[in-house]
Amino acid sequence: MSKQEIIICNNLRNDLEKAISSHKYDKLFILTDNHTYCQCLPVIENINQIKDATHITIGVEDINKTLETLAYVWLKLSNSGATRHSLMINLGGGMVTDLGGFAAATFKRGIQFINIPTTLLSMVDAAVGGKTGINFNGLKNEIGAFAPASEVIIDSEFLKTSDYENIISGYAEMLKHGLISTEENWKELIKFDFDKEIDYKSLQNLIGKSVAIKENIVEQDPHEKGIRKALNLGHTIGHAFESFALKTEHPSLHGYAVAWGLVCELYLSHVKLNFPKEKLRQTVTFIKEHYGRLNFSCKDYDTLYELMTHDKKNESAGEINFTLLSNIGEIKINQTVSKEDIFESLDFYSETMG
Ligand code: GLY
Repeated sequence: MSKQEIIICNNLRNDLEKAISSHKYDKLFILTDNHTYCQCLPVIENINQIKDATHITIGVEDINKTLETLAYVWLKLSNSGATRHSLMINLGGGMVTDLGGFAAATFKRGIQFINIPTTLLSMVDAAVGGKTGINFNGLKNEIGAFAPASEVIIDSEFLKTSDYENIISGYAEMLKHGLISTEENWKELIKFDFDKEIDYKSLQNLIGKSVAIKENIVEQDPHEKGIRKALNLGHTIGHAFESFALKTEHPSLHGYAVAWGLVCELYLSHVKLNFPKEKLRQTVTFIKEHYGRLNFSCKDYDTLYELMTHDKKNESAGEINFTLLSNIGEIKINQTVSKEDIFESLDFYSETMG
């Protein structure tokens, strides 16, 4: 997989002009969603190269991450004369960078694209690392390809258009990156002050570190055969929580489910691998304060377990695959855990988050 350049911006216009100029292309396309079309495109649309770009706009919610929307983007590209030498800019959250990246990766067997993520979740996760795709047959990201953007341009100014819930949701992926990297990074993250007005400069600094952690892992293992599985910490139980919440009247944002998943998976790390109790306690306290809790009872354990068995990261039927930690930065991939231990981690969740 070719390497992507990550640009943490000081000046979006300059960085974007430079990135576009580094490409040889015949036509420029810019993909937005309904929200970024109004809120974010105005920030860049008077850049000379962008003035002539063809706009494609899609719906903002994850329910639009479908084959139909993908076909709509392909059709727009085709009817507007896109060639193999065209360039696409994806301006938006994970929905736009995932679907736009997949549209670009497949149109005429692949055109170049630049990601400009506008939500925290897409800045630190979705837009970086080359995973692209759509939901299919009721399953998230079921169809897709590894296809890195040539550049990912990150400007935390866009976060001023996000609400608190979306910021704290993306922050869960940063917390995960801290847990799989260094104690220093983890400590900085659990100390960040969300009580006052958000300090975007400090947040941008933490975003830079977080993206570097992901980049380093993806470089070692772009196709998730080994160490990239570290990025799944919190996600095995987290995805089950997310799917469970989706069936209730209170669906949860992805990062909230990941944060709740971290509570259970750090508990499993403690029980199975001796992850230090005090670090478990401090992380759980941070999550409890910032993410609240998902409501479920022991009657729901079987449903949650069933959802975990469908996780596409499992390697064989009936086995649930986890990434756990023996300490901060000490990653143990391909850990299988018994049903009893998983239920015990749900008990721990209920007792501590209650
Ligand atoms: N979101 C995890 C990964 O990119 O591998």
